[in-house]
Parts: sequence; structure tokens; C-alpha cells
Amino acid sequence: MKKVFSGVQPSGTLTIANYLGAMRQFVALQHEAECYFCVVDLHALTVPQDPAALRRQTLDVAALYVAVGLDPKKVTLFVQSHVPAHSELAWLLQCQSYFGELRRMTQFKEKSQGQESVSTGLFTYPTLMAADILLYQTDEVPVGEDQKQHVELTRDIAQRFNHRYSETFRVPEPVIPEVGARIMSLDDPTKKMSKSSTVAGSYISLLDEPNTARKKIMRAVTDSGSEVRHDPETKPAVSNLMEMYSILSNLSLEAVRARYEGQGYGPFKKDLAELVVTALEPIQKRYSELRTSGELEAILADGAARARTAAAPTLRIVQERLGLQPAR
Ligand code: TYM
Repeated sequence: MKKVFSGVQPSGTLTIANYLGAMRQFVALQHEAECYFCVVDLHALTVPQDPAALRRQTLDVAALYVAVGLDPKKVTLFVQSHVPAHSELAWLLQCQSYFGELRRMTQFKEKSQGQESVSTGLFTYPTLMAADILLYQTDEVPVGEDQKQHVELTRDIAQRFNHRYSETFRVPEPVIPEVGARIMSLDDPTKKMSKSSTVAGSYISLLDEPNTARKKIMRAVTDSGSEVRHDPETKPAVSNLMEMYSILSNLSLEAVRARYEGQGYGPFKKDLAELVVTALEPIQKRYSELRTSGELEAILADGAARARTAAAPTLRIVQERLGLQPAR
């Protein structure tokens, strides 16, 4: 069976973009692959975090994984820091990666721009991500567009290692959805929707109350004209809303355009708001149950045990190939 790995950072409340771009794919893949889904708390530490908030958000993300439809019996759901092999392999891979290739990462450039001090963790972040993926001999990595470059770097690191030390890692492929891979901010369609944004109106949180979500959609910026048409060049804002609509309604972009022909933006946004509220409702219900029932701790303990077992052989082979003395 093919293997799938992906991760989500507990660096804020998850948004509908995380769901549409990534988590929705996870749900579909659980039926056809051996899946590992991780709450990547170590990645969140690359920028300052409030410890209490990080601890809470880690459980929030774990609960949302289950709430969107992942079956923790079918998939291995765990917290990254519970499996020390991630940090260990990350170091070994850092020693196989180049300063120059990490410096080219767009996310590093964006996140470090204008900052007075930048942690070395932010710089080496992609090697930790490579370790996450390569530990499980992953075939496919479902992610949004913004993570594509990191998965490509992971492929380069894997191929280089295999070439230097003989076949060790499976070389993974990114899996990026055709529609929804880059959901943009509701207040500015030139920026991607982000859970770490300080402007609440720019994103829909998976935990937004129905009326808050409705208001955010109704207030979302649109483009000049009144035609509901998908054209990211000239109509970036409406195209973004159409992508959300298309996924949530299971209609093609063309079918969405045809449905609102001659009607203007008003009815389109109103219907989109209802689609969003209807999608969030069952997720929020299951999330509240999980966050109060105490089920999560057992799910995560079981996931960590399974992940540790699955990760151990790859770490051992890498240590051996690199010439580390076996521990007795
Ligand atoms: P993170 O936590 O930023 O985002 C989680 C997932 O959501 C996707 N995503 C989006 N998709 C569409 N539109 C958007 N505006 C949008 N914003 C985020 C992301 O592409 C991602 O798939 N480095 C990763 C976490 C990670 C990881 C991994 C992923 C760590 N190790 C190993 C895959 C495999 C990150 O920061 O995702």
C-alpha cells in the first residue's frame, strides 16, 4: 500500500484554506493509503510562541484532524515532538543539506523579511520537514501550493543521500489539488489566507461561529464589474471565492459561473456563505465533543506509539549508513 505523510502547524486556529488546500485531501487518501498525519509542534517553535497557547493549539489541531473526518484507527495521528526520531533525522539531514539551497526557500525569505532576529530553526525548517516525510518512506505528500518547494527540496535531499550512501529513502511526490491549492485572503486577494494573520476578517477559521463566517464572506472584497467569472488575472478576488464555492458544492468552476450568470455578486456571496456554514457545522460539533471528552489523549498516545515503531527502521539505517557507532 502506498504511504502518505502530511503535517499541520499548531500556530493558530486552522482556517478553511488549510481544510480546502490540504486536509480535505487527507480524508480522501485515508481509504487508499497507509497514512501518517502529524501535528508539527516543533515546526511551530521556529517563530516565537506563547507556551500555553502552543500546548492548547496542539490539541486543537489534533481534534480538528479527527473532526474533519480522519479515522484515528485507520490513520496514524500523532504529535511530532512525541516521536524523537523526527529531531534526530533532521540533524542528520541538516548535515546533508546546503546553506545555498535553504537560502532559496521562498517561505524563509518571506518569514524572515523585516525581522530583526531570525532563529536558525526558521532557516533549517525545511530539513525538519524532509525528516518528517522521509522517516516513513513516504510516497505522497498532500499539501497546498505553498509547501511544494519544501517537498521538492525533500526530494533533492533524498536523491542526494541515496546517491552518496546507496538506496535509503523513497523519493516522495507532492500531491497538490487542482482547485483550492492556494486560497487567498478575503481582504486582499494578492496574499494567501493564513492562520497566523492578525486581521480576523482575512480568513475563515474552522471554528468561526456561523454568523461570523457569514459576515466575513459578505464583507470579502470583490473585483470591479459584476460578473461571477473565474479569471485569477483580472478577477483575483471573485476567482478565489469561486474556488471555495466549487469545492464546497462539488460543482465545476464553469457550472458555478453558469449558475450566477447575470445575477451579480450578491446572490453568489450569500450562497457561498451558506455553503461555508454548512461545511463547518459538523466539523465544529465533532470538535467540541473531542475537546471535552478526553478521547484525544488516548488517540495521540496510540498514534505516537505506532509512529515510533514505523520511524525506527529508517533512522537506524541512516545512522548506520553515515557511520555512527551502534548503541549497545
Ligand atoms: P501549514 O501548517 O502552514 O499548513 C497546513 C496545510 O495547509 C496548506 N495551506 C493552504 N492551502 C491552500 N491555501 C492556503 N492559503 C493555505 N495555507 C496553508 C499548507 O500547504 C499545508 O499543506 N510546513 C508545513 C507543515 C509540515 C508538513 C510536513 C507538511 C511540516 N512537516 C511534512 C507536509 C509534510 C506547514 O507549515 O503547513
